[in-house]
Amino acid sequence: MMLLLNGPNLNLLGEREPHIYGTTTLADVENMVRDTCAPYGVEVKAIQSNYEGALVDFLQEHRQAAQGVIVNPGALGHTSYALHDALKAMSCPAVEVHISNVHAREEWRRVSVLSPATRGQIVGLGTMGYYLAALWLCTELAGAAARGVEPVDVADLDAAEVGEAVSEETRGERE
Ligand code: DQA
Repeated sequence: MMLLLNGPNLNLLGEREPHIYGTTTLADVENMVRDTCAPYGVEVKAIQSNYEGALVDFLQEHRQAAQGVIVNPGALGHTSYALHDALKAMSCPAVEVHISNVHAREEWRRVSVLSPATRGQIVGLGTMGYYLAALWLCTELAGAAARGVEPVDVADLDAAEVGEAVSEETRGERE
């Protein structure tokens, strides 16, 4: 299962500052991600919320079943240590998406406190960034399945085993 999270104000996609964010709506984005994941047999669970806690709850709720996370945190990306920690608690990879090129805008948008908790970021490529994130995650999943690498369920391990299992998985990915 793929999780698709959109943070504050992204419900207004298509109407809000279209010169920056374009005219594609959030429903269009969610459909695009579903259509991208479907051929890989990956179901998508989507949430948009203006509340940090709702996004944290959603991640926690699907922590075990999630195989990948696509997250556009909106402005929470610049501030939310709680979301950072929630992403860190997931055992699957996360990709952070920003529709606009945050590095070419206000100074405060250049910092993402989420990025260190994600596998990668796609920034400034418009709503196509969501498609690229979904494609990468599904390809990664399909590749791991073909190599017989089981996703590590960190919750089932004790602290000492976690480091070992993660480096095993990383080794598997490199082979
Ligand atoms: C955004 C960039 C953020 O700085 C901003 O607060 C948003 C949207 C983007 O997708 O470009 O709400 O995450």
